Amino acid sequence: MQSSLYCQAEALLLRPEFGYYSIAHSRRSGEDSLNPVKIGLLGLGTVGGGTYRVLIRNAEEIARRAGRGIIISHASVRNPDRVPGLGLEDVRLSDDPREVVNDPEVSVVVELIGGYDDAFELVMRAIENGKHVVTANKALIALHGNELFKAAQDNGVMIAFEGAVAGGIPIIKSIREGLAGNKIEWLAGIVNGTCNFILTEMREKGREFNDVLAEAQQLGYAEADPSFDIDGIDAAHKLTILASIAFGIPLQFDRVYTEGLGTVTRDDVIYAEELGYIIKHLAIARKTDGRVELRVHPTLIPERRLIASVNGVMNAIMVWADALGPTLYYGPGAGGEPTASAVVADLVDVVRTLTTDPDNRVPHLAFKPDQIADLPISSIDEVETSYYIRLQAVDRPGVMATVSGIMGDLDISIEAIIQKEPGEGETTVPLILLTRRVREKAVSEAIRQFKHLDVIVGDVTRLRVETLT
Ligand code: HSE
Repeated sequence: MQSSLYCQAEALLLRPEFGYYSIAHSRRSGEDSLNPVKIGLLGLGTVGGGTYRVLIRNAEEIARRAGRGIIISHASVRNPDRVPGLGLEDVRLSDDPREVVNDPEVSVVVELIGGYDDAFELVMRAIENGKHVVTANKALIALHGNELFKAAQDNGVMIAFEGAVAGGIPIIKSIREGLAGNKIEWLAGIVNGTCNFILTEMREKGREFNDVLAEAQQLGYAEADPSFDIDGIDAAHKLTILASIAFGIPLQFDRVYTEGLGTVTRDDVIYAEELGYIIKHLAIARKTDGRVELRVHPTLIPERRLIASVNGVMNAIMVWADALGPTLYYGPGAGGEPTASAVVADLVDVVRTLTTDPDNRVPHLAFKPDQIADLPISSIDEVETSYYIRLQAVDRPGVMATVSGIMGDLDISIEAIIQKEPGEGETTVPLILLTRRVREKAVSEAIRQFKHLDVIVGDVTRLRVETLT
């Protein structure tokens, strides 16, 4: 029997396109090691296509790692007449994704269609059908993850979601497994490539916001609805997931304080640089005194920090862990093959654990499900950090004294003030204040009072400053 298996395997080695590999490469024996795991793919867009290409191109390496070949046997695509030129000869194509999740041959469903509702229904159906799930859908996990993980646990299947955060950067695995011996104190990430691209182009080339956004859309970085990027929603989805695995708290997207890029002007980028800072759109989670901060907003960070030099569409996440100290994870946060890299790694993980006891798998959210603790989330008013405040003030004696008087009365210590020259023919000047650490509530009150002064014109800009130490 064994020799016939060897013969079969040697023959199969000649046909790697089927995902088989020689038993001589495997430490396992028996039928399992010879049968490729069959995958059902929902969506053949940028990431779906990338996943297919990576699985084909690296089939042998992947099988040597996973212990079995991994092949896509069934895929759904909205319009089968518009399938990208991938050469999908061995793949059954359906226009109805339900056919894939109900296909008895499929062991693992890879969900790459995005969005909330259809994806939720399909993933839930796959779980109920006893199939493992791999997804890169951050919105789905951030909003429905608690429910989906419970269902997966009840059905003894896994949901893997590395591609949901920062594309190809293995940040979920790093936090969940690599840092498992640490208490994580905080993390701060550039997790939206579109925002980072816009800020980089504004700073380096002086380009206008809308012009850069249009280019990000053309290049395919932006979400289908780009307000998800520029309003910070995409980053908030990703932060929800990161905070949960970092601190062992439930996924709670609705508790993330979320601010988009809208408040940042090209002038702010220039003034920040004059003060020694770079503006980045950061997703920040911090645990202090048994409370958790979850916030997404444009942030001034010292230009000497490594993360300050992460430019263009690249992503990076800085994690501060008690034993390890600071670490930085950098790489492409979007794109077909970079995200496929995470999806395929998840597939390898799933295949490796197909035969393990469900109770002994790495928990979805890093902590055992009964150890997930619902810690209080701080409101933005309770956050303590430094602030950059920009006012447009009438250029007359005493204005600076009035402004600093309000700050003093509220116990806000000023670290730096810049007053710029008035523009040609203008009677107002930009005033830029940098504060020491203070509660946000005090700064909000100062801004409220500034807005009531007749020497302050128009809106007041407030940006948070983080030293990242
Ligand atoms: N729109 C996202 C970004 C894509 O710009 O980073 C990856 O989630």
